[in-house]
Amino acid sequence: MLNFLKIMSSRNMIRTVFIVGSLLILPHGQDAVAQDLDLAEIFRCVPSEKVDEALCGEARDLIIDNCTICHAFVPIVLQQFDEQGWDGLFDRHADRSPQLSVTQVADMKKYLAENFNSSLDPPELPQALLDLWTSY
Ligand code: HEC
Repeated sequence: MLNFLKIMSSRNMIRTVFIVGSLLILPHGQDAVAQDLDLAEIFRCVPSEKVDEALCGEARDLIIDNCTICHAFVPIVLQQFDEQGWDGLFDRHADRSPQLSVTQVADMKKYLAENFNSSLDPPELPQALLDLWTSY
C-alpha cells in the first residue's frame, strides 16, 4: 500500500481523496492491482461543452466519496447508459445515498452521461477488477 501511495503522489495526478477512495474501491484488498491503476484516466474527462474540467473533478470526487461504499467503482465506469439510463440508475439508488444533494446528484449524472455512454468504449481495466463487476 505504501508503494501505491508513493507512485500516486510522485505522478501527482491523483488527489488525496482518490487515494483514500482506493482503500474502499478495492474491497478485496487487491493492492497489486491498485498499483497499476490510473484513476484519473479511468475517471476520464472527455472534452465537452456541457461538462468542463471543474465539473469533472467535482463529480469524480463525489463518486469516489459516495459511490464506493457498497461496491467497487467498476460497475459505474463499465456502464454505457444514455442520460435516461443514468437517471434510472440514480432513481434506483435514491435511498442508497440520502446524504447527496439534488445538485450533487445532477452533477454526477451530467458527468457520467457525458463520459460513460454508448458512444465511448468503457475504460480498460485489469481482469481482476472486471471480476469484481458482479461482487456487490
Ligand atoms: C448503500 C449501498 C450502495 C451505494 C452507496 C451505492 N450503490 Fe450502486 N449498487 C448497490 C447495489 C446493492 C447494487 C446491485 C444492483 C442493485 O441492487 O441495484 C448496485 C449497483 C450499481 C450499478 C450497476 C447496476 C445498475 O443498477 O445499473 C451501478 C452503475 C451503480 N450501482 C452505481 C452507483 C453510483 C453512481 C453510486 C453513487 C451515487 C452508488 N452506486 C452507490 C448499492 C449501492
